[in-house]
Amino acid sequence: MSSRSIRIFAPATVANVGPGFDVLGLALEGIGDEIAMSLTSEQGIKIAIPESDLPTDPKVNVAGVAIQALLDDLNSSQGVDMTIYKKVLPGSGLGSSASSSAGAVFAVNELLGRPFSKQELVKFAMAGEAASSGKAHADNVAPSLLGGFTLVRSYDPLDVISLAYPDDLIVVVVHPQIEVKTSDSKKILRKDVPLETAIAQWGNLAGLVSGLASSDHSLISRSLQDLIVEPVRSMLIPAFDQLKIAAKAGEALGCSISGSGPSVFALCNTMEQASQIGNDFQQIYDDLAIEQQVHISKINTEGAQIIKG
Ligand code: HSE
Repeated sequence: MSSRSIRIFAPATVANVGPGFDVLGLALEGIGDEIAMSLTSEQGIKIAIPESDLPTDPKVNVAGVAIQALLDDLNSSQGVDMTIYKKVLPGSGLGSSASSSAGAVFAVNELLGRPFSKQELVKFAMAGEAASSGKAHADNVAPSLLGGFTLVRSYDPLDVISLAYPDDLIVVVVHPQIEVKTSDSKKILRKDVPLETAIAQWGNLAGLVSGLASSDHSLISRSLQDLIVEPVRSMLIPAFDQLKIAAKAGEALGCSISGSGPSVFALCNTMEQASQIGNDFQQIYDDLAIEQQVHISKINTEGAQIIKG
């Protein structure tokens, strides 16, 4: 057994990215959870989460559930000790639970001598997502593990694709300081979609993937529209229409809800444009006396990584 300890970083993510509900996601730079982990000679998973009231029971905590899924697959009763430094706020729409689940399985896999590839870790991290939101979606955990833009081509069997995308993309995210639980914002969605709406949505999703691959900014912009989920969930987000108008006025490539909200993202292709839109987003919430945080970053290319050890 290794007595090595490591500290890892797993990035926050923007899931859905407009038309790709539950299938598309991207990783952010400069924001993500950190986890310090070591293997122990005692059985069981021990979790500490400083300055947080998240559950530390490994049967309930998303990172504990994800690690257990990995150990079960190996038929292992290995003990694990970890401290999760939460930097991604729960209920922000920036893949908080995914960052912990992805980071945890990445760290334990490293300590065990890498029995799985990063791609193979996605299914274990998804078990953590299921514990958190009631549904094992992969659109946050895949980019948190793999970096870049990812597409879940299929859930059964699981088929996750890393997409090509232009390297000039900048993401602006504004997080109004209200909490929206993924499980709640999933419940309000309609189960049926009219055929015409579905046709428009999959046209946009294919257009977005194609535009990313060919660095066609105009095609990305025309395609970054969500006709199914955004119209329903935007009702939970203060001043959503004003944010969209500001992003459009700033000529962002697109703007939509990050994951299940309440964060909203705009995709840009210059830092100057991103800064202006970030300021405009901030002003909109300042005018309404709603506390917010703005994060501007490039797309994280590496995904989960070791930062120490
Ligand atoms: N695709 C998921 C949803 C992501 O929109 O509910 C949750 O962050």
